[in-house]
Amino acid sequence: MKKNLKLGVFGFGCVGQGLYHVLNETHGVKAEVKKFCVKNRSKPRIIDAAYFTYEAGDILNDPEIDVVVELIDDAEAAFKIVKKAIENGKHVVTANKKMLAEHLEEIYQLQQTYDRSILYEGAVCGSIPILRNLEEYYDNDLITSIEGIFNGSTNYILTKVFDERKNYAEALKQAQELGFAETDPSLDVKGFDPKFKLAIAITHTFGVFVRPENIINIGIHKISATDLKYARENNLTIKLVARAYKIKDNIFGFVAPQYVPTDHMLASVRNEYNAVLVEGAFAEKQVFIGKGAGSYPTGSAVLSDISALTFDYRYEYKKIAQGDAFPFSNEILVDAVVSFPEGSHITTRDFETFKGGYQGNGFQNLQGSVHLEKLKEWAEQDGVSVILAPQLNLAAAPQTAEVERLSA
Ligand code: HSE
Repeated sequence: MKKNLKLGVFGFGCVGQGLYHVLNETHGVKAEVKKFCVKNRSKPRIIDAAYFTYEAGDILNDPEIDVVVELIDDAEAAFKIVKKAIENGKHVVTANKKMLAEHLEEIYQLQQTYDRSILYEGAVCGSIPILRNLEEYYDNDLITSIEGIFNGSTNYILTKVFDERKNYAEALKQAQELGFAETDPSLDVKGFDPKFKLAIAITHTFGVFVRPENIINIGIHKISATDLKYARENNLTIKLVARAYKIKDNIFGFVAPQYVPTDHMLASVRNEYNAVLVEGAFAEKQVFIGKGAGSYPTGSAVLSDISALTFDYRYEYKKIAQGDAFPFSNEILVDAVVSFPEGSHITTRDFETFKGGYQGNGFQNLQGSVHLEKLKEWAEQDGVSVILAPQLNLAAAPQTAEVERLSA
């Protein structure tokens, strides 16, 4: 039997307003907002002032409120709200990927301890229903990999740069104006935001908790005009790809830009759209595409979680229950192209297998198989741009003595 839920919502920004809109436009979800808790008292609001409070306790201590919806920016403040809400017997819906990635194990424990549900579909790839699919549909297939475009802003920027030849700064400004980018957009362009989403997805895919600081993220902010030219001349585009694989008894995962052939499925995913490609032993490849950022698409994912609570849904974390607990590792070799100003100390000897390169216009461009940690080191150096090769030829590093060929 569906329940009529009373909601207390923290935050009335891009997603909070999106939620308010989709909730009002949707018939059939038995839920209504009782209060929004916001910080800024002087900001003009588009709805009746009676809806707002500035005191967290007005929501957290209100016995009438069944569900706390957390949609604020500050990850640490968000975690405190979520924890208190659960301790006070409320269910929670949140879209805060940073908070979730940094506290996922505690979030999992809180649900077991207090027998309450915390749902967060809107935190991973916006409107794409990937978490519930990983939990429910893929509970009996052996997933070998999950990969795709997990950030709307960077995909928007790369689309504008490639398709419309806009410059990077202009495209980033647009992504901010459209409400896609984070308040600190370096979280998007440096690959932190998709990394947080990947950390959450890894738990629901492979049943392990991975600290986000252990996942390597390389962003799009150092992609140069030389890289764009190389892509165009070789029928390639560039996408920021998040991926995680199970190779034998290890889980590998990282975020990095990649050259993608223009006829590849990911190449056609444009603007703020995201894509998630799940590969399982028996179902093989399946792909989900949808808007990964924006007020209404994310609001609709949050509303779907609220609706799920009306029929007592909770994540069972089935892969954790299955108990394999494979270790997470960065001991992996990847094929990459690194470009840098001539005279840099990067040499062909740094590659495990060097495959070729060229130089011109003061730039050098080297390609080969390289250790992921080495790639991260290069990506942190001034003027060095690192982009994965179109054929990734992913291989466990020699230490693990397992080598498997996979292609992008
Ligand atoms: N900044 C994020 C993105 C918002 O661009 O994907 C949605 O999580």
